[in-house]
Amino acid sequence: MLEFIPLLDKHSSVPIYVQLYQYIKQKIEDGDIPEGALLPSIRYLSGQLKISKNTVDGAYQQLLAEGYVASKARVGLVVLPLEQPVLSPSLQEIKYKSKVPMDNKEETFEYDFKYGDIDVNFFPIQIWKRCLTQALTDELEQLLSPGERQGYVGLREELANYLFQSRGVVCSEEQIVICSGTQHAISLILQLLSKNGERSVAMENPSYDGAKSVFNNHGWSIKPIRLEKDGIDIEQLKKVEAKVAYITPSHQFPYGMVLSIQKRLLLLEWANQNGSFIIEDDYDSEFRYQGQPIPSLKALDAKENVIYLGTFSKSFSPAVRVSYIVLPQRLMDAYNHMYGNYYQSVPSIVQKGLYILMNEGHFTSHIRKMRKVYENKHKTLVDALNKYMGNHIEIIGQKAGLHLLVNVKYRSTEELVKEAKKVGVRVYDPTLYALNDSEVNSSLIMMGFGGVSEEKIDKGVQLLNKAWFNGDN
Ligand SMILES: Cc1ncc(COP(=O)(O)O)c(C=O)c1O
Repeated sequence: MLEFIPLLDKHSSVPIYVQLYQYIKQKIEDGDIPEGALLPSIRYLSGQLKISKNTVDGAYQQLLAEGYVASKARVGLVVLPLEQPVLSPSLQEIKYKSKVPMDNKEETFEYDFKYGDIDVNFFPIQIWKRCLTQALTDELEQLLSPGERQGYVGLREELANYLFQSRGVVCSEEQIVICSGTQHAISLILQLLSKNGERSVAMENPSYDGAKSVFNNHGWSIKPIRLEKDGIDIEQLKKVEAKVAYITPSHQFPYGMVLSIQKRLLLLEWANQNGSFIIEDDYDSEFRYQGQPIPSLKALDAKENVIYLGTFSKSFSPAVRVSYIVLPQRLMDAYNHMYGNYYQSVPSIVQKGLYILMNEGHFTSHIRKMRKVYENKHKTLVDALNKYMGNHIEIIGQKAGLHLLVNVKYRSTEELVKEAKKVGVRVYDPTLYALNDSEVNSSLIMMGFGGVSEEKIDKGVQLLNKAWFNGDN
């Protein structure tokens, strides 16, 4: 008969029956109690260990429930065979290894013209800390609740004000939905529009890959639309059958052109006649360096066909993961019907922090400051490109945003990126954003400048000139 000598600690917070169960389970897993062995009877073990029969019974019931032992009529509890994988795997063994590359640790470069970076040196960290601390001083009941489903009303009111002042958007806070980033916002919209059977979307070609992934994952078919100097080709758009168009009118991603006023009106007309919705992604319009700020497409949307998307990622920080949708009023009932029972996904403390930031005027002064910072960087980049290699290149989409494109005449992007790497400079291939192979010029280079210092911008362009043209202007 099996002899059990467990160390049972009567003063432990772990009940005795659990200690006994753990002891026997461990012995089975370690192979000390072999398959087919018979556990001692309840009466015998309770007498031997000087514990109650109920305690032994409790441990045995747990072993039975987890399949370590089985009850055999007129015999008792018999130990079952243990499949190897059931044994607790070591941490090493259970580590998941993806076959798909995810956020690869990339080589680092001294001069990295990466798109999407902001200038962290000017981030108002002290102010942001104060806003978050202040957000934490709310009444406990409020502080510990998940918050309003569409988002904190104070933040939505601030946004409605801000959008009217800076983007000409006329909306009430009731039309605003707070989301965790642009992709989350697009997902919500797609499910809403799918209700009417919509499944295809027209997109500028090339376009934002982050949006493309969401359309693909929702099973939507993408109709690529050619770009002209002043934006999307409206004639081609009219020919494809799409009840939804996703576009970046204020600063086309990645080409950077601004959609002309003529085309804006034609686009709205198309939506109206076709019964279509336009998803306007206004991701970086705060930063404009030439001419007057251009109102959003939504500002011209008298017929309520535009679904407007904005984000704090460029204007404040991509780390807060907060974006917002302005829904046309005619979609509000459908929205409430579909999402009225969904909880808000952005933590209420972050939303309140942003509310305080906007309400106390810090957000607008931060944007004002950053506009100057980015304008200087933009000027440094454009000046350096013109100065060091003006004869060989053409700058595209340079009026706004945190990136521009360079057309290096008669050269291939692939070769240019490779040669730049050899001198420690990283520049990017915008054809990665192409929806199909045609229509996309393959001598273009994409250069982000938000996170690069002015000094590095100038030096980096000098190095590019050396790599691409042997320093010969
Ligand atoms: C076209 C476009 N839209 C939106 C975003 C921002 O997305 P999010 O709000 O998820 O940070 C980006 C950022 O790179 C972008 O390029």
